[in-house]
Amino acid sequence: DGRGDGSGDRADGPGGGLVPELFSWEFASDPYPAYAWLREHAPVRRTTLPSGVEAWLVTRYADARQALADQRLSKNPAHHAEPGKTGIPGERSAGLMTHLLNIDPPDHTRLRRLVSKAFTPRRVAAFAPRVQELTDRLIDSFAERGSADLIHEFAFPLPIYAICDMLGVPAEDQDDFRDWAGMMIRHGGGPRGGVARSVKKIRGYLAELIHRKRESLGDDGTEDDLISGLIRASDHGDHLTEAEAVAMCFVLLFAGFETTINLIGNGTYALLRDPEQRALLQSSLAAGETGLLETGVEELLRYDGPVELATWRYATTGLTIGGQVIPAGDPVLVVLAAADRDPDRFDAPDTLDLARADNQHLGYGHGIHYCLGAPLARLEAQTAIATLLTRLPDLRLGVDPGELRWRGGLIMRGLRMLPVEFTPSA
Ligand code: HEM
Repeated sequence: DGRGDGSGDRADGPGGGLVPELFSWEFASDPYPAYAWLREHAPVRRTTLPSGVEAWLVTRYADARQALADQRLSKNPAHHAEPGKTGIPGERSAGLMTHLLNIDPPDHTRLRRLVSKAFTPRRVAAFAPRVQELTDRLIDSFAERGSADLIHEFAFPLPIYAICDMLGVPAEDQDDFRDWAGMMIRHGGGPRGGVARSVKKIRGYLAELIHRKRESLGDDGTEDDLISGLIRASDHGDHLTEAEAVAMCFVLLFAGFETTINLIGNGTYALLRDPEQRALLQSSLAAGETGLLETGVEELLRYDGPVELATWRYATTGLTIGGQVIPAGDPVLVVLAAADRDPDRFDAPDTLDLARADNQHLGYGHGIHYCLGAPLARLEAQTAIATLLTRLPDLRLGVDPGELRWRGGLIMRGLRMLPVEFTPSA
């Protein structure tokens, strides 16, 4: 899909040729051999990315965990020696830069506190019946057919509707969001114009929605959606500017949808390819247990997580990671997918073990930028996978695995389509 253009770096070392080139098409379908090579031979390696930007890739678990928590690594793109090349396309021009993933303390601390007040475990837990209802409605739409594309018909719409509901986007506007989000994903690694236009549309819409909610928010504060919660939190204490509010909603949307799509997609695919583990999970679900589902979704994240590389970090000063000197101004990319298969940290790291107990994976990051949406992501993935396997018990892959295509964006890793077949059910 246009990524094997030779702009990547050779990962096979001198005379190797045993593992695919980084960022090639082959690499997108299975990056793990290349990551194993890097961990072993060049655990902190300066690499030219497909965009032409140079960055350090950190692939060992111990180094990755340390780098994620190292405050000398800034999230603010202004620290990049070549700023402007590393954000979401269109983000800069749409004025959306001041969000959690682009800022450091003390601004980060203030904004994170505000959103944590609005994004409470209680609010997420209360949302469980709604996620179940959305999941069932989506499965209803294809259950009688006996076949479906689980990405387009299931994994893609579920997180979008869920986060829209949570933010308080009115039902009649949610299909617009679905279209904009689809544009952002489809063109993630391709033509920039479409993405920038979608980003601008989302920005304009969110600004207006926040404004409307601020106007209509009663003194009694009865509105229980996330945007109203954010406005209330900011009106009673810490200040949240209008631009910060829009950027916050934007990051909740974009950090929360493609990730969750890919957790459901990659996770279901991994289960379909491992009949033994899948049978264990199905019998555990049939017995009404939730333990294996919970450890299992964590394991699916570790085994083939949606976030291949953590978002950008920039060295604010010269520093050393894993014995390698990184000059100030250089970007650092922590390769979560490589760290989570590190044999120095995980027993049999290439084996899917849904019951894995010692599983402190980095799939949600680590440190002050640890995924804010993890409780929602867990709820969605657990509900989606449990309901699929329960309602469509003989679910199977509808094509040969070799025919599947992966979306090899730089940060995310996920399937373009996941065709499945099953016995039709009402
Ligand atoms: C941050 C993964 C779902 C909102 C992160 C980070 C990772 C991550 C790795 C840290 C990035 C870094 O340090 O560079 C995931 C995965 C998800 C998921 C694997 C799904 C399976 C969600 C959802 C939401 C969300 C559903 C929101 C509703 C956020 C936000 C941040 C974040 C706001 C930034 C936090 C901060 O900078 O303080 N996520 N995420 N994520 N995630 Fe998630």
